[in-house]
Amino acid sequence: MSEAEIGLIGLGTMGANLALNIAEKGHKVAVWNRTASRMKSFQADAGELADNIVACATPEELVAAIRPPRPVILMVPAGDPVDQQIEALRPLFEKGDIIVDGGNANFHDTERRVKELAASGIQLVGMGVSGGEEGARHGPSIMVGADKGAWLRIENILTDIAAKYEGEPCAAWLGTGGAGHFVKTIHNGIEYADMQMIAEIYGILRDGPGLSAGDIGAIFARWNDGRLNSYLIEITAEVLATPDGDNGVPLVDVIQDKAGQKGTGRWSVIEAAMLGVPATCIEAAVAARGLSALKKEREYASRRYPQTPRPPSATSVADLVAELESALLAGKIAAYAQGFAVMQAASAEHGWELPMATIARIWRAGCIIRSQLLDSIAKAYDAKPKTTNLMVAPAFVDMMTALHPALRITVGRAALQGLPTPALSAALAYFDGYRQPRGTANLIQGQRDFFGAHGFEKVGSRGKKHGEWKTAK
Ligand code: 6PG
Repeated sequence: MSEAEIGLIGLGTMGANLALNIAEKGHKVAVWNRTASRMKSFQADAGELADNIVACATPEELVAAIRPPRPVILMVPAGDPVDQQIEALRPLFEKGDIIVDGGNANFHDTERRVKELAASGIQLVGMGVSGGEEGARHGPSIMVGADKGAWLRIENILTDIAAKYEGEPCAAWLGTGGAGHFVKTIHNGIEYADMQMIAEIYGILRDGPGLSAGDIGAIFARWNDGRLNSYLIEITAEVLATPDGDNGVPLVDVIQDKAGQKGTGRWSVIEAAMLGVPATCIEAAVAARGLSALKKEREYASRRYPQTPRPPSATSVADLVAELESALLAGKIAAYAQGFAVMQAASAEHGWELPMATIARIWRAGCIIRSQLLDSIAKAYDAKPKTTNLMVAPAFVDMMTALHPALRITVGRAALQGLPTPALSAALAYFDGYRQPRGTANLIQGQRDFFGAHGFEKVGSRGKKHGEWKTAK
């Protein structure tokens, strides 16, 4: 009876695809889904992979079907459903069994669950999975936080089902507890910034020279063959080229400009703020989604502040496109630098020792932010694992030196034309702020001391000082 190597609960799109991926790689997987009708349709779709699938009618049957110590992947919605499923499995599990949460969990929940299960000897693995449906079916990027022993029990299955980058599996153990889900959260934060910057560039091309979706799509397709090569640029080109099935107009032109969000971007921003690490590109992207949702308010405000005619751009479209390509790459580097800086700070804070080069490596294939840039990031961290910030890694200094003038011109021109570029502007301000040896916080310190006697350090001397401020009238 105990013939399966692993179990999986939750046959929604991601769960079903992951189960088929596991079966296809030759691992016997026991599956169970709460609704029986979904079990049936899943079995019907499994085709010849059914030989490696043990369909179970109850959680008890599922647990009995797996060879101990039993790993069971939960692919249920993040939040309460995970806690409920853990509660349901707890009495069926024995010491050493392993619950693998494959959803987009908040890492604080993962840490809590690890602690709650500790006394029972049941292991909780927090597994970040990126790559959408396609990735789950044919090779996602897998970010694991776990006790090392639990990782070793499932390592061969996870590396088999993961995406491969030049033969190297994009799955890794990143640390204990919530480390994997934390890294997945930051992955999504970077994903938000990446997508927002792409959307801003699209906006400049659409509302500046007035290019059509098709024309902009062709530009993105061309960029995908160069330095910007990445999954998000590739799919942007495809999204822009797709006609509406109803009337043939570009589909993107008839999609409401209101973006949804499920929470991981916001969590990235919250964690960055709690750690005191600037993640302004991610913040701007999250805020831009929030602003996008205020459709009615924006429409009202647009009537209060009608657009003044935009000054035409002095550059040719060809020059503009070249400039935007560099600006987007510069913005992207700043966003990635911020995401990695947040992970470095979190690693120190939570004692995870997150391996930065490994994270960059397992993001090179399978996940949503996979891109050519990640290979350069992996190399930078390989060369100097303790790199403080990517923007000061030698290869990135060369890149940013060459690219930042284009980002500056792009942001400046967009501002003059009334085109919002929150994430690209944040990237530029971050770059300028980060390389400024003497900033303006001296004045903030003066203000703080003035109204609250908070004290300040004086240049060239140690210890807290106070100023003899004139009283404000
Ligand atoms: C991934 C994606 C995936 C999901 C996002 C979407 O890495 O495969 O990031 O996790 O598509 O959670 O998030 P929003 O709904 O918040 O955009």
